[in-house]
Amino acid sequence: MKKQWWHGKTAYQIYPKSFFDTNGDGIGDLQGVIRKLDYLKDLGVDIVWLSPCYVSPLADQGYDIADYYAIDPRFGTMEDMDQLLAEAKKRDMYILMDLVVNHCSDEHEWFKKACEDPFGKYGKYFYIEQVKDGKLPCNWRSYFGGPVWEKLPGHDDLYYLHVFHKKQPDLNWENPELREEIYKMMNWWLDRGLAGFRIDAIINIKKALPFKDYPADREDGLCSVHNMLHEAKGVGVFLGEMRDRTFKPHNSFSVGEVFNEKEEELPDFIGDDGYFSSMFDFAETVFGQSGDGWHASSGITPDDYRNCVFATQRKIGQIGYISNIIENHDEPRGVSRYIPEGEATPAAKKMLATVYFLLRGLPWIYQGQEIGMENIKLNSIDEVDDISSIDNYKVALAAGVSEKEALHMIELYGRDNARTPFQWNASENAGFTTGTPWLRVNPNYTQINLAAQKDDPDSIFQYYRALSRLRKDPAYQETLVYGAFIPYLEDHHNVMAYLRRTDDQTILVIANYQTQPQTLPLPGKVNRILLANTGNVSIQNGQIDLEGYQAVVLELGNVIQ
Ligand code: GLC
Repeated sequence: MKKQWWHGKTAYQIYPKSFFDTNGDGIGDLQGVIRKLDYLKDLGVDIVWLSPCYVSPLADQGYDIADYYAIDPRFGTMEDMDQLLAEAKKRDMYILMDLVVNHCSDEHEWFKKACEDPFGKYGKYFYIEQVKDGKLPCNWRSYFGGPVWEKLPGHDDLYYLHVFHKKQPDLNWENPELREEIYKMMNWWLDRGLAGFRIDAIINIKKALPFKDYPADREDGLCSVHNMLHEAKGVGVFLGEMRDRTFKPHNSFSVGEVFNEKEEELPDFIGDDGYFSSMFDFAETVFGQSGDGWHASSGITPDDYRNCVFATQRKIGQIGYISNIIENHDEPRGVSRYIPEGEATPAAKKMLATVYFLLRGLPWIYQGQEIGMENIKLNSIDEVDDISSIDNYKVALAAGVSEKEALHMIELYGRDNARTPFQWNASENAGFTTGTPWLRVNPNYTQINLAAQKDDPDSIFQYYRALSRLRKDPAYQETLVYGAFIPYLEDHHNVMAYLRRTDDQTILVIANYQTQPQTLPLPGKVNRILLANTGNVSIQNGQIDLEGYQAVVLELGNVIQ
């Protein structure tokens, strides 16, 4: 694998709407991001991905873009964006934007023009089909519920395709003119100083055509879009073209939201000449999901979590560089998902931080993760904003699940969990805004907030700082960034341990993923304790006594394995 400028960095995702509000409208803004750059720098962050802040009706919180060349006034102006790029540069930081090009908004001028003239230039930017006798072109179910087909405004017999929400019409990537428009826009941003993009929902850009039905998998008579994705061939042609026309000439960084890739395609995606610099590991996030909806999902145990993560590490090997996360804006909080209920103490949160952060790959922190933010409790469905949660709620009720259980399901899996405002301090609204926050602040902000942790050497925040520093320490960097990943004690229940290894150095990450203590063998002599999430590290006779949820990072000598 070729070394790249970004391999040794720490990356961070900002969800601008919920990060920091400087003008009191209850919505986070770009000035808020600028205001917090020093904070991020101090945490150890180099690369910052901003979830969408382009002009948007926010039907899917900005993942429905009405103008790719403008900042939504709720988030600020293009001057704010230029200022952010300049301020980031001063601090040796890199800004990524979200590239949402499977679809745009139905309020984008392309779509408006397509409605005016469905058979003209802009009609060909979308998938528009004639519908006879009410029979839709295919029976796919959109990700947010209901058929993927919606009547084209102003035309009774024409329907357009949307694999997500009906306000997110799919762009027709088969049309070279559309592709040119996208590359032009990407280059416009990269020329402006953007370091790259996070690439949204990208696998969906290739449709299996012509449209056809697949066997229905629920009583609604529809089928999952995955049937079609499975059959769609040739997404690589588009992605390779995108790479050559945009990323490559700018030496920019790109990280794909890639689901359902086939193992043999990994080198194409993230190999040395891959479509993207990196892609996220979602093995653990999708674990336990059911085609029937969230209500039919099963939880994940510590052993499952370890097995998912290790499977990805093995699969990737030296092919490329994966991006490791425990949460993002579409997921519940990592500490609420991957630590069994009732056990998410600060020590357990730091343990989880240790085991994912030091894997081979680029570590990402999602805003609030660094202070141990948790899922939010719900009193009623009226408190829920996320369209996906609302759809899954309806699906659950239709399947006979009680309202109480359906609400609990949203507490476990809902996307709002990660979208509640950042908890800066214990003052009103957690210091996020002086106005009324657009989404409820998690009431636990009085305990969990940055101000309470900032100067506490034992805090979760300081622990994340230490992890980032350790990974960048010249004495260990080569091993922690590039060293091989070797599982250790993989068959031990509730243990997550692995070696990171180069010819010259071996580092052991070892964690007790449960409340009861465990004594475990060590694979070699301990040269140095590099980090531990609790004070006492007890090593004797080639063994380590780990307290509940203790995680320790050791530099070893003479490893036999
Ligand atoms: C991605 C985004 C998600 C969005 C969807 C449609 O999965 O992460 O937030 O709803 O794409 O754009």
